[in-house]
Amino acid sequence: MGEVATITIDGQSYEFPVLVGSENERGIDIRSLRKETGYITLDSGYMNTGACISNITFIDGEQGILRYHGIPIEQMAEHSSFVETCYLLQHGRLPTADQLKRFSSLLNEFSLVHEGMRQLLNFFPLHAHPMNILGSLVNALSSFYPHVDANSLTEAIDICAARLISKVRTLAAYSYRKANGLPVVYPRQDLSYSANFLNMMFSSPVNDYVADEESVRLMDMLLLMHADHEQNCSTSAVRLVGSSQANLYASISSGISALWGPLHGGANQAVMNMLSQIHEDGGDTQKYIDMAKDKSNKFRLSGFGHRVYKNYDPRARVIKKYCTNTLEKGAAKDPLLGIALKLEEQVLQDDYFIERKLFPNVDFYSGIIYKALGFPTNMFTVLFAIGRMPGWIAQWKEMTNASDAKIGRPRQIYTGAQTRDYVPIDQRL
Ligand code: ACO
Repeated sequence: MGEVATITIDGQSYEFPVLVGSENERGIDIRSLRKETGYITLDSGYMNTGACISNITFIDGEQGILRYHGIPIEQMAEHSSFVETCYLLQHGRLPTADQLKRFSSLLNEFSLVHEGMRQLLNFFPLHAHPMNILGSLVNALSSFYPHVDANSLTEAIDICAARLISKVRTLAAYSYRKANGLPVVYPRQDLSYSANFLNMMFSSPVNDYVADEESVRLMDMLLLMHADHEQNCSTSAVRLVGSSQANLYASISSGISALWGPLHGGANQAVMNMLSQIHEDGGDTQKYIDMAKDKSNKFRLSGFGHRVYKNYDPRARVIKKYCTNTLEKGAAKDPLLGIALKLEEQVLQDDYFIERKLFPNVDFYSGIIYKALGFPTNMFTVLFAIGRMPGWIAQWKEMTNASDAKIGRPRQIYTGAQTRDYVPIDQRL
């Protein structure tokens, strides 16, 4: 018999198996706990709760490790592309040259969106946030295209996945054009995934735009850096919604909503707002560090801290390298980079942050590159959503295929009133 954990309640002992992952992670399998003992566990924020068994992404938060299907994120950033990463996450292995070519042409084929969806854009007010538009449009995809649920054929799910990965970038660009009163630019078959996206964003009828190689490479690197991150808030939202057998588009749309929050993907926009504020306020980084440490103040340093990483976020390390390489070249020098570097240096030496193991996370440096590429701040979280698309889909697929797939339905400890009688309105005090 393998390792077991014993729980003793009121003098009676119960044994539960210990599951061991391929990287030696250990979890107590309490799936039979309530049935055997009548008790449940309480774990607000899921600090200690594993909700699934997964073979997609491995994170070691103590050592700062992130791997997609075993491949370190640093190697992916150096050698791979976003499209190749999408394939890896969908199929669990890197593609051959032929497979990659076929997958890329599939993405090209699906890049146009139904004209009806473009018209939907007209009903959003001009100031609408692009994340709001994107979430709504992705949900609307299920009305315009055949949707797939857990019972669909694998082939249909794969087509739907490719459609989503391709169309999300078209929809994202549309939402930007709409918010800025600009005409929509259609996708082009001759451009790569990221070049196509940059073209749909920045091309104009009066000024032909050609994305330079470095911008395309940076865009691609940033997208693949965000491609999956196991059971974070938005991915858990996708899995939870999908567990009710809601279709893929509806499930992903809920992930987009979850990502929008400033404690999650919305942090990249919050970081840029914070750095700009520090800059306009004279560049006094210490003042903001002190504010973040002051428990009577709700202010937090955006871009620092992570539920899992208690060491430097490996994605932040890679992005910081690109950030300094790109911006120190001169032309695009941004004063916010200087503020970010100074803030990081001070934070890493401050006991408050050291004791709590708060390091820069993925959102801390990404915005500086997005800004250098020409993106407005309110598009940053949309870029995160495009990058995360293959991860959400892979996790949804894994969840729906799992042999123990069940609707997600947590329990609670009830602390409200005990049974009492309904009081007619004329007798209430
Ligand atoms: N600034 C100041 N203090 C912080 C910060 C921060 N950015 N982050 C955490 N702390 C403090 C908390 O006040 C708490 O202090 P205490 O122990 O004295 O009460 C301690 O560190 C632990 O923080 P929690 O909020 O309990 O940690 P949790 O794991 O629940 O939250 C989170 C993680 C949400 C990321 C948090 O660190 C945070 O709010 N960071 C800023 C927002 C951010 O950058 N989010 C992006 C995360 S990456 C991503 O989602 C893609």
